[in-house]
Order: sequence, then structure tokens, then C-alpha cells
Amino acid sequence: KVGRQPSYDYRFKVLFIGDRGVGKSCLFQRFQNPFYNVLMSTMTIGLDIDNESFKYDSKFVHLEVIDTAGQEQFFSVQAMYFRGIHGIFLVCDVTNRETFHHIPRWLELAHLHCTESNALIILIGNKIDQVEKRQVSYDEGQALAKCHGLSYMEASALDAERIEDMYRNMIQLLT
Ligand code: GTP
Ligand code: MG
Repeated sequence: KVGRQPSYDYRFKVLFIGDRGVGKSCLFQRFQNPFYNVLMSTMTIGLDIDNESFKYDSKFVHLEVIDTAGQEQFFSVQAMYFRGIHGIFLVCDVTNRETFHHIPRWLELAHLHCTESNALIILIGNKIDQVEKRQVSYDEGQALAKCHGLSYMEASALDAERIEDMYRNMIQLLT
């Protein structure tokens, strides 16, 4: 354990925020474990941290990913979680319009507490597999993101490929 500190080309800290129940933990867990049972996900208390390192475009990337609790809406995510964060996945649930309406408030919180002046925020519209229950269209998500200068992506915790795309996109925009 001595002197074997791996060196990375990039080290990033990425944070998940958004209302309770939008699927943050599912998107977070499925990244570290593709066999994570999405349907068994339970409410997050406090926060969860995962460290992953991999090769991306011939560069060694180290990601520290932090999952937070949406429990008490904007009050449970504390200022300290934003310290040193490079990228944020701001998640809403396309089957629950209220979570979409709360996006501006989450953005205020992020802008207030981010210590990195150029922290990158990607808006994620999750649960698109629930076609019948959809309340927020792709165009609405895209428009809101654009209005705030963010990227927009749609996801489903049941779709591993889209989750991979989310992370790939984040790293691409950060590097
Ligand atoms: P908090 O930890 O309370 O802030 O919630 P969270 O955002 O972490 O939500 P979580 O990932 O625990 O998911 C909440 C519920 O939504 C669970 O019952 C999941 O099974 C379900 N869920 C999450 N993502 C998806 C998705 O993409 N599609 C479907 N159909 N269900 C999902
Ligand atoms: Mg959670």
C-alpha cells in the first residue's frame, strides 16, 4: 500500500441532486453495479459516495460520485455537498411535473453553494420508460435546460446504455 498511489489524468467530483423519488439513487447505483435492482431502491438518508476509475479516450479518469437525499426538498442538501464539485446531475422525473417545476430552485441552490465557478450542470429527465405516465415532454425538458444554459438528457434507470451515456457526456463536457 506504500507508494502505489495511482495517478490519473483527470479527477472529478460529481453530485446528484433533485427532488425525492426522481431516481437519483437508481442512476447512481446502476453505474457502480449494473445488476442493481431498481425496483428495490429505498429513500436515501444523508449521502452515498462511490469512487470509480476507468479509461476514457486513452485517459485515466477518476470519478467521485455523490448521491444525496431529496427528502426534505431543498433543505436536506447542504452547502458542504457542493464543495469542490465539478459536475452536477440535476434529476427530475418526467412522470411528475412537480419535480420539473422545482428545477429552478435546485439551480439557485447549486449556484449559491458551488465553489467551482464553472461547475457543469446536466439536467436529467428520468423514468422515460413510463411512457403512459409521462407529464413532461422532451421538448419541454430541452427548453428549460436551454433557458438556464444547461445540457438536457433523458434517462431511465432501466436502460443501462442511457446511464452510460449520461456519464460519458459528463466526462466529455468536463475534459
Ligand atoms: P431520494 O433518495 O428519496 O431522494 O429518492 P431518489 O431520487 O434516490 O429515488 P430512487 O432512485 O430511490 O427511486 C425512487 C423510486 O423510483 C423507486 O421506487 C424506483 O424503483 C423508481 N425509479 C427510479 N428510476 C426509475 C426509472 O427510470 N423508471 C422507473 N420505472 N422507475 C424508476
Ligand atoms: Mg436516493
